[in-house]
Amino acid sequence: MMDRAIFEAIVAEAMLAPSAHNTQPVRWAQSGEGVTVYADTSRRLPVGDPNDRDFQIACGAAVEATVLSFSARGFGADVTWLDSIDKGELRPVASVTPKGAARPDDVALAQYVKNRITHRTGFSVSPDDVWSGWHDNNVTLIQKSDQIKWLATRIDHASAAIMRDQNFRTELLHWMRMKPTSAGYHSDGLNNEALVMDRLSAVLAPSVLGTKLYDLLAWLGLGPALSGEAARTSGAGAIALFHWPVDGSMYEAGRAFYRYWLAATTRGLVGWPAAALADHPATCATVCQRFGISKERMLLNALRLGAAKGETPNRTRLNVSDVIIEIDTPRG
Ligand SMILES: Cc1cc2nc3c(=O)[nH]c(=O)nc-3n(C[C@H](O)[C@H](O)[C@H](O)COP(=O)(O)O)c2cc1C
Repeated sequence: MMDRAIFEAIVAEAMLAPSAHNTQPVRWAQSGEGVTVYADTSRRLPVGDPNDRDFQIACGAAVEATVLSFSARGFGADVTWLDSIDKGELRPVASVTPKGAARPDDVALAQYVKNRITHRTGFSVSPDDVWSGWHDNNVTLIQKSDQIKWLATRIDHASAAIMRDQNFRTELLHWMRMKPTSAGYHSDGLNNEALVMDRLSAVLAPSVLGTKLYDLLAWLGLGPALSGEAARTSGAGAIALFHWPVDGSMYEAGRAFYRYWLAATTRGLVGWPAAALADHPATCATVCQRFGISKERMLLNALRLGAAKGETPNRTRLNVSDVIIEIDTPRG
């Protein structure tokens, strides 16, 4: 049986994996020498992520993060995907069991888990050699500045189109914490600091997003400006279009996406995902066509990459005790 303190240390690192809207939908239980990873379905995003794609990507990333936590302690680990037929709130996703010695690649990547963070403040120029010799079969890396600028406008247009849905905005608002006194400000969701929102925008956000005022502003053509990411996106050194086989597992996609983001971190880069590009079907199709992403693959995210400019926000996470569940045998 694994020592409880080691289990908690493993979870503390594994829970640093990313999730859309910072919903942190993953829970961990100790099972003998290993760990069982569960998905908390009460933290799904039914409007923004109706097919659970980002939800499963977050779960997969957390599974990979658990493997890397074992690696940081010298152990290799086997992943067994579990049957998720159980429709209860907590669904078993995978068991991660220590096996043999850690792979050197994983040990190296595990060192960067604490450094990876979503950085939305913008980018400064990164040295050209940062990109050299870096290839990943799941990524089309866009480095030309005119193409990055084009993608920047596409991201804002796609976001604006998605935001026209009041239900999407209501769900987003549910995960936004605009005041330090807001419940969960330091523990989950997206606070104004992480979103790089000034005080006034943070004060106005609920009235704009939560009402028809947004529709009026969008009708006036201001939607993309309200998303307001294009200027910062344009400063990225590259945009990694992350794609995956259409019939592939989204859990495995999450593992690969997390590893890619960590690999960027080892190169001194910060990342800022843009799911809107993949979530808005017309934009997604245009982008795939322009950059030759085949019909056998689906675009899952656009990770904006570069050297950090401006302050990196503090990380927002639940407590370790909040994400540990006391079940020692997998259900299902
Ligand atoms: C599948 C997925 C999609 C995401 N999409 C976006 C996005 O569209 N825009 C954004 O600003 N951040 C996006 N993020 C980043 C999350 O908001 C971020 O991971 C979360 O707030 C936790 O913060 P951290 O990455 O700094 O640990 C995404 C993350 C994941 C895993």
